[in-house]
Amino acid sequence: MTRIWGFAAPVYDLPFLQRWVYRPPHDEVITQLRVHQPRRIADIGCGTGILADRIERELHPDEVYGIDMSDGMLNAARARSPRVQWLRAPAETLPFGDGTLDAIVTTSAFHFFDQAAALREFSRVLSPGGLVAVAALSARQPLLQGPSAPRWKPAHHASAAEVRTLFETAGFVITAQHRVRRPPWTRPLSDVITVGMKS
Ligand SMILES: C[S@@+](CC[C@H](N)C(=O)[O-])C[C@H]1O[C@@H](n2cnc3c(N)ncnc32)[C@H](O)[C@@H]1O
Repeated sequence: MTRIWGFAAPVYDLPFLQRWVYRPPHDEVITQLRVHQPRRIADIGCGTGILADRIERELHPDEVYGIDMSDGMLNAARARSPRVQWLRAPAETLPFGDGTLDAIVTTSAFHFFDQAAALREFSRVLSPGGLVAVAALSARQPLLQGPSAPRWKPAHHASAAEVRTLFETAGFVITAQHRVRRPPWTRPLSDVITVGMKS
């Protein structure tokens, strides 16, 4: 799986793909971070680093980390910004001490994670009151259901209700959950943002 993302890295930054598919969840996350103003932030499954770079440039927190498992993606990210700290690690075993971050965000990547393990890990590394924001394709995604659904499933697209249960089980109080706001012609993509606070 890591190698697939390495091959995907060069096409990943195509402007139309970024603008219509990936930017709307990035915008939602930036909005949440503006409200809560955390100082130490990590973007998990950061890909080529577009969101982590935006967080650093637009919000100026003290520390920004971009975490991914793919060297191909991280190489592109490193070329994008020397101010974000790019680290290779899985979402389920983060290279941070207990309570050392104020916010964790992840966009268009959660469906690839071991979701319960990743949320437990997010809770471990967040300080009390820390923010988690997860934007991911949801199980309502029509292309992933019905007879045309791919038999090969590299990912688990959790429903909004499932994500709520996962958050609560990991010790987060949910503060917001809604569909990602998108231009009408990209609405067949059904992604949901869930925001929680470590209790
Ligand atoms: C579709 S890309 C999304 C990239 C970026 N978050 C964005 O919104 O543009 C998914 C990324 O998740 C990473 N990934 C998948 N499983 C992972 C895991 N368990 N831990 C860390 N990164 C992972 C992949 O390497 C890939 O870069």
